[in-house]
Amino acid sequence: MRILVTGGAGFIGSNFVRMALRELPEAEVLVLDALTYAGSVENFDGGLRDEPRFSFWYGNVTNADLVHDLVAQCEVVVHFAAESHVARSIYDNSLFFVTDVLGTQTVANAVAKCSGVRLFIHISTSEVYGTALSEPMDEQHPLNPLSPYASAKAGADRLVYSYCATYGIPAVIVRPFNNYGPYQHLEKVVPRFVCSALADEPLTVHGSGRAARDWLHVDDTCRALLEVIRRDGCERRAEPEGAREAGADAEGDAAPGAAGPAAGGAPTTASAAGPAAPACADGACPVYNLGSGRAVSVQEIAELVCNMTGRSVSLVTHIGDRPGQVNKHIADASRFTEAFGWRPQVSFEDGLERTIAWYAANEPWWRRLEWMKHVPVRTASGEIEYH
Ligand SMILES: NC(=O)c1ccc[n+]([C@@H]2O[C@H](COP(=O)([O-])OP(=O)(O)OC[C@H]3O[C@@H](n4cnc5c(N)ncnc54)[C@H](O)[C@@H]3O)[C@@H](O)[C@H]2O)c1
Repeated sequence: MRILVTGGAGFIGSNFVRMALRELPEAEVLVLDALTYAGSVENFDGGLRDEPRFSFWYGNVTNADLVHDLVAQCEVVVHFAAESHVARSIYDNSLFFVTDVLGTQTVANAVAKCSGVRLFIHISTSEVYGTALSEPMDEQHPLNPLSPYASAKAGADRLVYSYCATYGIPAVIVRPFNNYGPYQHLEKVVPRFVCSALADEPLTVHGSGRAARDWLHVDDTCRALLEVIRRDGCERRAEPEGAREAGADAEGDAAPGAAGPAAGGAPTTASAAGPAAPACADGACPVYNLGSGRAVSVQEIAELVCNMTGRSVSLVTHIGDRPGQVNKHIADASRFTEAFGWRPQVSFEDGLERTIAWYAANEPWWRRLEWMKHVPVRTASGEIEYH
C-alpha cells in the first residue's frame, strides 16, 4: 500500500508518518511538503530519512501536475497540508485561503481523477464549529468559524463533502480537536508554555485564560487515522459503479485527454449514470470528530506546566484577548468510537508530562524556533500585542 501524506513535514504529519511506517509494515509513505516556516526536514530525524519505504517530495499542494503525479501512485491520501495557526491568520490571511482551500481543491481534483485511490482522509479541524453552542459538540454542531483560519478550513471541509456528493470520491473527513505533543511549532500554546517554562520566561495567557479546549495527544490522533486506513474508511468504496472519473484507465489513472481538463481543472462530472449516490449513512461523506471529551482551560495548562517543570506559577502573565477566540470546545467523538473502536489512550496529564520530557530532551530542535514563538496580533482595543 502506498500512502501520500501532504504536509508530512509538519507537527501532526511527521508524527503520523513515523507511526505509519512503524505500524504498517507493508506501507510505503510519500510525503509532499512545501517546507513552509511550519514544516522541517528535521522532523524526519531519527532514522526516518534512511527508511527505504519513505520518500520526500518537496513541492506545493497547489501544484496540480505534481499533486496529480503523486496521487496517481497511491491508494491512500492523507491530506494535512495547511496554514494552521489562528493568530497568523488574523494579520495576514491570504495564504490560508490559497493553501487550505485551493490546495484541498487541487488534492481532491487529483483524487477524483485517479481511481486507484481507495481512501482520501481529509484532515479538517474542530475550529470549523466556533464556540460550543451545546456540549459536548458532535458532528451536527453548526459550523460557525470565528477566524480566517477556521473559515478556510470550513471551506475545505465542505469542498471535500461536495466532491463526495458530486464525484463520489472515497473521502472521510476527520475533525481533530486541539492536538499537542512532540514536534509542534512553538507558536502553538502547549509548546510555547513548555519552552517558556524551560527557559524561565513568562508564560503569556490570552485574556482571562478561561478559554477551554479539548486536548488530544498527537499519538491518539495518529492511531485514529491508522484505524481508518486499516478498516479502509469503513468500506468507503461501497459506491455506485461509474461514480468516479469516467476517463480512468486500467492503471487507475485518468487517461490523458479523456478526463476533462488538464490536471489542474475540475474533474468531469460523475458519468452518464449521474452523480454518485450518498455512499454512507450520514450523507455524502462520513465526518468524524476526534477528541477526548474533556476541556482544559489555558490557565490550567499554564499552571500545570509550571508545576510539572518545577517553576513558580508567578511566571504566568496575562495579555489582551485574541480576536476570533473560541471560548469553549469539548468533543463528542462517540461516532468515531462506534465506527472504529478507537478511544484516546493518553490522559492530558500523562501527555503533558511526555511532551515536557520531549522538549526538555530536544532543546536544539526548539531553540531555532524561539524567534517565531510570538505572533503580532491587533487586539479588540486596537493595540498590537505579541501573542
Ligand atoms: N495542530 C492541531 O491542533 C490541529 C487540530 C485540528 C486540525 N489540525 C489540522 O491538521 C493539519 C496539520 O496540522 P499541524 O498542526 O501539523 O500543522 P503544521 O503547521 O505543523 O504543519 C503544516 C504542514 O503543511 C506544510 N504546508 C503548508 N503549506 C503547504 C503547501 N502549500 N504545500 C505543501 N505543504 C504545505 C507545512 O510545510 C507543514 O509541514 C492541518 O490541516 C490542520 O488544520 C491541526
